[in-house]
Amino acid sequence: MGQPVKRIDARSKVTGRARYVADVKIQGMLYGKMLFSPHAHAHIKGIDTSKAEGLPGVWAVITAQHIPGENQIGVVTPDQPLLAQETVRFVGDCVALVAAESASVAEKALGLIRVDYQTLPGVYTAQEALGENSPLVHQGGNLLTHLKIRKGDLKKGIGECDILLEETFHTQRQEHVYIETIGALAIPEGDGSMTILGSIQCPFYVQKGVAHVLGLPMNKVRIVQATTGGGFGGKEDVPSEICGFASLLAWKTHRPVQMILTREEDLRRSSKRHPMSVTYKMGATKGGKILCAQIEVLADVGAYATLSPVVMFRSTVHATGPYEIPHVKVDTYGAYTNNIPSGAMRGFGTPEVTFAHESMVDELAAKLNMDPIQIRLINGLRLGSQTATGQVLRESVGLEETIVKAKEACDWESKRAEDKRIGPSRRRGLGASAMFYGVSLGAKGWPLDGSAAAVQVHQDGSVSVAIGGTEMGQGAQTVVAQMAAECMGLSLDRIAILATDTSLVPDSGPTVASRTTVFSGNATLNALEQIKRSMTELASELLAVAPEKLDFRDGQVLGGGKKISFDQLVQHCYSRNINLGAEGWFVSPPCSFDEETGQGDAYYVYGYGTQIAEVEVDLDTGQVQVLRVTAAHDVGKAINPQGVSCQIEGGVVQGVGYALLENFMMVKGQIQTPDLATYTIPTSLDVPQVEPIIVEAISEKGPYGAKGLGEQPIIPTAAAVANAIHDATGIRITKLPIGPEALRRALLEERKEL
Ligand code: MOS
Repeated sequence: MGQPVKRIDARSKVTGRARYVADVKIQGMLYGKMLFSPHAHAHIKGIDTSKAEGLPGVWAVITAQHIPGENQIGVVTPDQPLLAQETVRFVGDCVALVAAESASVAEKALGLIRVDYQTLPGVYTAQEALGENSPLVHQGGNLLTHLKIRKGDLKKGIGECDILLEETFHTQRQEHVYIETIGALAIPEGDGSMTILGSIQCPFYVQKGVAHVLGLPMNKVRIVQATTGGGFGGKEDVPSEICGFASLLAWKTHRPVQMILTREEDLRRSSKRHPMSVTYKMGATKGGKILCAQIEVLADVGAYATLSPVVMFRSTVHATGPYEIPHVKVDTYGAYTNNIPSGAMRGFGTPEVTFAHESMVDELAAKLNMDPIQIRLINGLRLGSQTATGQVLRESVGLEETIVKAKEACDWESKRAEDKRIGPSRRRGLGASAMFYGVSLGAKGWPLDGSAAAVQVHQDGSVSVAIGGTEMGQGAQTVVAQMAAECMGLSLDRIAILATDTSLVPDSGPTVASRTTVFSGNATLNALEQIKRSMTELASELLAVAPEKLDFRDGQVLGGGKKISFDQLVQHCYSRNINLGAEGWFVSPPCSFDEETGQGDAYYVYGYGTQIAEVEVDLDTGQVQVLRVTAAHDVGKAINPQGVSCQIEGGVVQGVGYALLENFMMVKGQIQTPDLATYTIPTSLDVPQVEPIIVEAISEKGPYGAKGLGEQPIIPTAAAVANAIHDATGIRITKLPIGPEALRRALLEERKEL
């Protein structure tokens, strides 16, 4: 624990032995396919499935009318039918499902289904959606959420400022591009229950969703997570839909049904990062003290709410950035459109607002002729600071240390002072960006914020740990194994972490929000402490040493000059019928949020970070190369420093994609980037040198002092890149991604003497 270790799942993954759901084939298995709507908004007048049903090899064709339970899958808001019934609201809505002997027969059957649509006018931007007399996506109106913060006295704050800036920023729709597409295998059991193996982040969501759709009690639905090749939020709620489809077909045919999405199907169906327009008014004194922020966020939620209400909560709470600002007014609006639903993606509404506030802070510094690092140090959150929601930070605030360490590591002062011109048409620049991020679900998700672990010490002294959090590539199993090994004084190879299975562990909420190290970790420690108590009691008796003197270390239990090996003690326990199994539980510390004022302890603790990007801009082409990103992140105790560094590298790369390349485009509700040839992500040639720096501001409530990290590293990158471009060229780009055309156009328009 605290030492860099190799991932416990590394070998099986690099050797190709890990079994993903697509690798599993079972006797009598059928293949499922879904029929998408060609229209972004239409009324379904009729569906004729007879030809498809007559095709040899087809076992079932299902439409909404066949659903045995309730046709409803919305995770936060009940606005989403699993299969479209009367209306399709985006081009990923499905109207029918087919199960067949092979995927190609199923595909052929889809072509034989006749759907009679009457197209409806749609809305395709959040602005349009909130216009008067706009077509309605749902009957209740197009405004899904409005959240607000009211802190201090904005008028007074504006009056006291020496400088007041205003700007609007636009961010794009981003896709997760996990390596493995979503897939499920539904197996109808003899007792009428359903077992599902799938590529999923949140097995407990799937269990609830599938039970609801099939009309089964939850104890008849068992979800087992298969090895999962990436999630990034994209497998938070969408797998409930895919598992729902597969289980409907399995229920109908009484045969196992596998449904593995092609990349094109996955891109069409799965949620994306919210496109947002954010307007900031920010003011400061001559000395650089930020006094006020007025912020309006408008997000395109897409056709269904999915997780938007909680994503928008993140945007709201984090809108001012990691700064103490006395006068704050924030309004965030999420509006339905006939686009693909926006949902959970790494950072959950925060990278969007961070691009805006970090650009604003840099502009303030530029106008005040102040060093961008200095303005962040003046205003940055520290112990005792009050956030925009009025939360007083009482522990674990590592922001300042991340700023200082990042600055020193990248040689900020001399690099900023260097000549930007490195060739007739090439310029270099350096830009900084800071962030904070609430760990776990916070006030809006508190009722889901418990987590369990079930632990067994076996007769040979090996330990199995079943956790409610999932491994999807982030390294969760390794850190939990490390903490378990540390707690029991055992070597890492004595610990096995089981695949997450709803029949093994109580509902542990979703694996999201950078919560797994803390929540699965604490739950595991809670279970192990119970087992240790029983073992300590017996060891005390056997060794005649007081229990409080005994310690679990190096495979032994020792104290008072005496010792017994862990394995021997385990055998003694078994011979006396002492239970060496236990269930652990951990609940989030209390959080609060007042809906009217936006005041409260929004999250129990926050992670902090600072990134500095160094870029080279080609003035002739507008091409930007990110050379280096220095990324300092406060993660509390780093359980596996190697894992932390890898998370930072991955987050930065995904952040560079967000800054420069990635844009999931839709026009009038139709997808313009339907595959990975048109939706471009960074390749190895685009990846900068990343220098991770780990800062450890210990959190009392975390296991061994840990906080979350999964999402944090993507959050500040785009702003750091934009600020570096500004440093190189003097051009302020307010719209992501910063493609060569846009930058070249801006360079021409500004006619800068560079
Ligand atoms: Mo994550 S974006 O909190 O699934």
